Amino acid sequence: MIFTLNRDKSRKLIEGLTEAAIIVRGASVVMSNAAARNLLGIGIEGVDVRQVLPHPAVIERLVRGGVTTPEEVEASGFGGARRQWLVRIAPLGDGALLVRLIDRSEARAAEQMRVDFVANASHELRTPLSTLIGYTETLRERTEELDTETTGRFLSIVHDEARRMQRVVEDLISLSRIEAEKFTTPTEAVDLEQLIEVSVEGAARMAEERGSSLVMQIEPNLPPVAADRVQILQVLDNLITNALRYGEQGTPITVSAAVEDAMVHLTVADRGEGIAPEHLKRLTERFYRVDTSRSRSLGGTGLGLSIVKHIVERHRGRLTFESEVGQGTTVHVLLPVAAETLS
Ligand SMILES: Nc1ncnc2c1ncn2[C@@H]1O[C@H](COP(=O)(O)OP(=O)(O)OP(=O)(O)O)[C@@H](O)[C@H]1O
Ligand SMILES: [Mg+2]
Repeated sequence: MIFTLNRDKSRKLIEGLTEAAIIVRGASVVMSNAAARNLLGIGIEGVDVRQVLPHPAVIERLVRGGVTTPEEVEASGFGGARRQWLVRIAPLGDGALLVRLIDRSEARAAEQMRVDFVANASHELRTPLSTLIGYTETLRERTEELDTETTGRFLSIVHDEARRMQRVVEDLISLSRIEAEKFTTPTEAVDLEQLIEVSVEGAARMAEERGSSLVMQIEPNLPPVAADRVQILQVLDNLITNALRYGEQGTPITVSAAVEDAMVHLTVADRGEGIAPEHLKRLTERFYRVDTSRSRSLGGTGLGLSIVKHIVERHRGRLTFESEVGQGTTVHVLLPVAAETLS
């Protein structure tokens, strides 16, 4: 029996596909599904495919003809900037081609992130390592020439750089532990107010050095949150340290907590230079810093906020940043209230 597709059947078939799909015959689009019209424009049917999918390798296959077996092409340049597609072309017989657009943007972005991460991590370790090697060589080869004071200074540089490497490695280990646990949601009922007090106390010295006060605004009878104590302390420590480091000296830092529906809303707010929108959306990327040399000189690794993000995700919470340049930054964290307190 010969099975032929009539127009109705073909339309049903491509409408049933989740990805954007078009049928091309003789260089024009003869049929499209809703996903394709959404992506490429409502009026694509009847239009020359060269205008609809303007990518040389795709056009070459669609217009040249002679595609007798399914082919795949990686392409971009349509359906939105920076989107990456796997274009699957399959002959339907009598010159018609079914073209499906599989979105590869996320997979590509994830792949790129992995590549960048390895490169960044190596770079972060290589810089202090070079300093370490340079100084230890000098100390060894020129022992006689160096006076005690210089030797002492060199040794403290060696120590500081080694400490920096240790911080990077510890943060990386921390990050991979949190990632490994990401599917086990913490359930322990944790008193957030007490953790805030611990964290604020821990930051007291740094606050004093910077002439900043740490103000707590905790709603009375705050219910416990479903959390991992150590990790929430890590979140608080990083957010408070950031506010102190990057806020303006002498201005107060406010830490607040209040209930909102079934969540506890925690904020850490500073007054200071704030963060421009283009940086704001990248803050939680590993090693991302607005001003790398400044963060480095303050002992930062640029991993703090990516650790915070992973912890909040593990807690099924939410992390958002609000910042105005020249005014200051407020970080919002929503954490679920512990189940036993909900009735
Ligand atoms: N409250 C803030 N105000 C202004 N900029 C901030 C603030 N918090 C973070 N940033 C910017 O975001 C960057 C990333 O922060 P993150 O906590 O991830 O790293 P870090 O503080 O540099 O190092 P680490 O936390 O690992 O010690 C910082 O380098 C800084 O440029
Ligand atoms: Mg930090």
